[in-house]
Amino acid sequence: MMPTKGQYFTQEKRREREREREREMATNGEETKQSQEIKHQEVGHKSLLQSDELYQYILETSVYPREPEPMKELREITAKHPWNLMTTSADEGQFLNMLLKLINAKKTIEIGVYTGYSLLATALAIPDDGTILAMDINRENYELGLPVIQKAGLAHKIDFREGPALPVLDQLIEDPKNYGSFDFAFVDADKDNYWNYHKRLIDLVKVGGVIGYDNTLWNGSVVAPPDAPMRKYVRYYRDFVLEFNKAIVADPRVEICQLPVGDGITLCRRIS
Ligand SMILES: C[S@@+](CC[C@H](N)C(=O)[O-])C[C@H]1O[C@@H](n2cnc3c(N)ncnc32)[C@H](O)[C@@H]1O
Repeated sequence: MMPTKGQYFTQEKRREREREREREMATNGEETKQSQEIKHQEVGHKSLLQSDELYQYILETSVYPREPEPMKELREITAKHPWNLMTTSADEGQFLNMLLKLINAKKTIEIGVYTGYSLLATALAIPDDGTILAMDINRENYELGLPVIQKAGLAHKIDFREGPALPVLDQLIEDPKNYGSFDFAFVDADKDNYWNYHKRLIDLVKVGGVIGYDNTLWNGSVVAPPDAPMRKYVRYYRDFVLEFNKAIVADPRVEICQLPVGDGITLCRRIS
């Protein structure tokens, strides 16, 4: 039976665990060994499914058995990094990889690389002469995953630009040759700029091409009452995500589909 809409958004269990972790950190002044362990177990665990067991079932039954070796290696490296909650989850990586193959993507953009899990999912999906223009303000994290990408023989597909993504997109739209030249873009960075990215990507991605905006359910906070307890960064970006969701549904240049995969991903297919 399909889960109900309400079930998807019930995250009380996870929120309680997060509150517990915050209490621990406040008490000890630093993360305890125990809270570290909980965090590691939750790497990439941003699912909005009702139960952890159901999510684990998906991972163990359908995702991990088919996860390409380099992605597994990169996931394990990322798990040891203190900011590992930022990584794209394994199920979302599998989804992106499949999507890119379905649309025969060749020329792509990625905004928000971190250690490169979604980048690797993309690099594995596109053909040998495919390209990814990848942007992140942090090169160090990208370089953590780079050896895995190099070992897999995929580094030649990636043009990594260190720095804020917006000026790079601005430079691209100065040249009419770039208009409609990309098949796919994945946006997984600063939520307060999503609409700014959209204004540029809509011209850069071809008609029929796809833009994926990640985290559009923002930890389930999009349906939380304004006074609900929330981590600071969740509260800060929440209004931007809500505004973006309202704006994108009203944009006649795209067809959209919002999926409860990972932290919510909104796919936009450019139609004009
Ligand atoms: C959620 S992480 C990306 C996760 C990544 N897609 C993955 O698969 O692991 C968000 C990333 O966006 C980057 N970022 C934040 N602001 C940015 C900006 N203005 N331009 C480019 N990257 C930015 C951060 O440095 C961070 O690495």
